[in-house]
Amino acid sequence: MLSLIYLCIFLVGVVQCGEGGGNWGYEPHNGPDHWQGDCQNHLRQSPIDIRAPDVDYALLHRLYFMNFEHAGHIEFSNNGKTLVGGGFDKWGQKQPFIQSGGLNHRYKLHSFHLHWGGHDSVGSEHAIGGLHYPAELHMVHIREGLSLGEAVTRPDGIAVVGVFLAKTNDPIANRMNIISDVFGKVKHTGNKTEISSFKTNYLLPAVTEAFYRYEGSLTTPTCSEAVIWTLLAEPIAISSHQLHLLRDIHNYANKKTEINYRPLQALNGRRIQYRPSKLDRSMICSAEKLSMVIPALVMMAKFF
Ligand SMILES: *[C@@H]1O[C@H](CO)[C@@H](O)[C@H](O)[C@H]1NC(C)=O
Ligand SMILES: [Zn+2]
Repeated sequence: MLSLIYLCIFLVGVVQCGEGGGNWGYEPHNGPDHWQGDCQNHLRQSPIDIRAPDVDYALLHRLYFMNFEHAGHIEFSNNGKTLVGGGFDKWGQKQPFIQSGGLNHRYKLHSFHLHWGGHDSVGSEHAIGGLHYPAELHMVHIREGLSLGEAVTRPDGIAVVGVFLAKTNDPIANRMNIISDVFGKVKHTGNKTEISSFKTNYLLPAVTEAFYRYEGSLTTPTCSEAVIWTLLAEPIAISSHQLHLLRDIHNYANKKTEINYRPLQALNGRRIQYRPSKLDRSMICSAEKLSMVIPALVMMAKFF
């Protein structure tokens, strides 16, 4: 009997993960307070606010983004909750994956999706010192050798790379075009389109060396506590026009998606690691607030 219950929970989880299905949403009647699974009263939930007192410098190796320069064909769709890019599993040997950067396994890119809000001061799921960016991109990677269904049951089954989207006034230097060009084709729930010659590294900032790392969860039901989070410190650019197009995307209720981000969750004693870039490292050495970084410097002395 018990195993039957587990099986049901498992199946519900997989269906919701895979298709964005289920009857949850972001409105008062179906919003985060009503979400099932691990979403209520659990201790390692996401997203979180990255606050200085909770952050430790960490000597992690850099994170490698493999096959992110490969140009391939992806499916881009509106699942009623967000826009999702997928189909990387059909790229064979060229499927993008991440490794190193303190990860104990190799993680293959499964899909990416976006979170945004109705105006510029909200939208990202994570916050830095209480401040939100207008949108956040999530690249969802699954531990090599596991299915998505298996991955959500492991504490390190999934590795999500979060990239903040910062609003820019520059309409040209904008690599978001690779997806924003087709926002109009996926305005309604169930719409699907294809993007050829998609390069995943268009969605990465120029510098990926500095990142935050913590152990958390999926930010949508079933909120499985299976995610090793990497939040890149450097954002990528999105123009106000692209933000406008994003806010015009309609959800499962055929209304403009004004909110598809989960509220901040309690840290519950977790620590956040910060892996600085080389530039940060030289700045730390001349920093005035040495007392703050002395423990880190002692560690780094070995490193230099
Ligand atoms: C998108 O979905 C809407 C609503 O189902 C439909 O009317 C429309 O034809 C679709 N557009 C495309 C490009 O598939
Ligand atoms: Zn997400």
